[in-house]
Amino acid sequence: MSHRLDLSGFGITELGVLPVDPLQRLSRDFEQLEIILDTLPTHLMNHTWGPACEAIPQYDADKVTYRELPRFHQKLAYAASGFVLEGSREGKPRPYIPANIAIPLKRSSDLLGRMPILSYDDYAPQNYRRVSKDGPVALGNIEVMQHFCAGADRRDERWFILDHIEIEAHGGKAIPAVVGAQDAVLDNDPHLCEQGLTKLHPALVEMKRVLKRMPDECDPHAFFDGARLWIWGWKNNPFLPEGVVYQGVEAYGGIGQHLHGETGSQSPTIPMIRAALGVVHVKTELTEYLEEMRKYMPRGHRRLLYAIEARPKIRPFVMRHAYLKDVYNACVTEAHEFLWIHYGYAAEYIQKQATIRGTTANSNQVGTGGTPFMKYLKQLMDETLAARID
Ligand code: HEM
Repeated sequence: MSHRLDLSGFGITELGVLPVDPLQRLSRDFEQLEIILDTLPTHLMNHTWGPACEAIPQYDADKVTYRELPRFHQKLAYAASGFVLEGSREGKPRPYIPANIAIPLKRSSDLLGRMPILSYDDYAPQNYRRVSKDGPVALGNIEVMQHFCAGADRRDERWFILDHIEIEAHGGKAIPAVVGAQDAVLDNDPHLCEQGLTKLHPALVEMKRVLKRMPDECDPHAFFDGARLWIWGWKNNPFLPEGVVYQGVEAYGGIGQHLHGETGSQSPTIPMIRAALGVVHVKTELTEYLEEMRKYMPRGHRRLLYAIEARPKIRPFVMRHAYLKDVYNACVTEAHEFLWIHYGYAAEYIQKQATIRGTTANSNQVGTGGTPFMKYLKQLMDETLAARID
């Protein structure tokens, strides 16, 4: 039917926002980029990434094939974050990105419809490979391709990323289920809506199960002092008050750019589910920030999130068909429990660690985006629970 959404047109696969087996190597034309990026973690550990990064040839992003573009962007984004943030531990990040990286990074970002900085899609969805080709995209059978960390923190960085990846893989069931339930609302078909919600529930159960495994191999202390340093952005960064200059990028005219760092807030999956279910979020600084985060998503994912928001919500339909209430409430409960566990992580992995160190640079009150995140994550959680129907 014409009102159906073609999910593949939005870049959604059988694994949700994950590509199925992302490219593992760029073609020979980009060999130097691959070879030098393989050495990124060792260079960062030795504080020698600056000159290594400047030795990367300046590539022409317009010569990169469509299939290679996400990996090309990923490599340049890692190179840029490593370059800027290398001196962060000493409070001395570099306030610029050299032209050989800045120019193709900006161009490839424009082609992908995203911001020219490391974002969620680079960090998690595009960053896995299956160990056994026939095995599932699940913890135990996936590995991270690009790292920042080389030392002891690498274990925690690896797990932090892999945990996100398996959660996203379950989005491959959750996203079509929730979109199917919305289709049913449009068709005024309660039976189809029940089918959608019945498929959504086990996917949410799996997402929560995997989220619970985060502490298995990602320690809050190691995360805070290791992996987290490399995903900082250049907005509200106390050491980069003038932002970061993208050398040679004409569109910026030498003016420092203030861009957010990588965060799970740039994943559309959980927001899509809440939006379709009909959770209402009051406008706050956090929701404004989350809106801003959409600019950091791949174009298709961003468009799908807007499309889902614009479609009829499931909640009012369930209210008109009382027998759907139990399955609907079960989905809302799972979505809430996910957020509850996630809230605990924000407290344990960020707020508590910042308090222990008495730091303001990684403030416990102010998240990646300059929002008092604990208060606002609680608000998202409470609003999700409020969607339950009595
Ligand atoms: C140790 C693990 C994690 C920590 C410490 C953490 C921390 C945070 C923080 C502080 C925020 C507030 C906004 C911001 O600063 O960007 C946030 C937002 C968010 N995170 Fe996480 N997060 C973790 C794991 C995850 C995982 C595994 C996912 C899902 C794959 C995820 C998805 C989200 C989403 C979607 C938001 C936006 C708020 C929402 O729509 O619910 N996070 N996270």
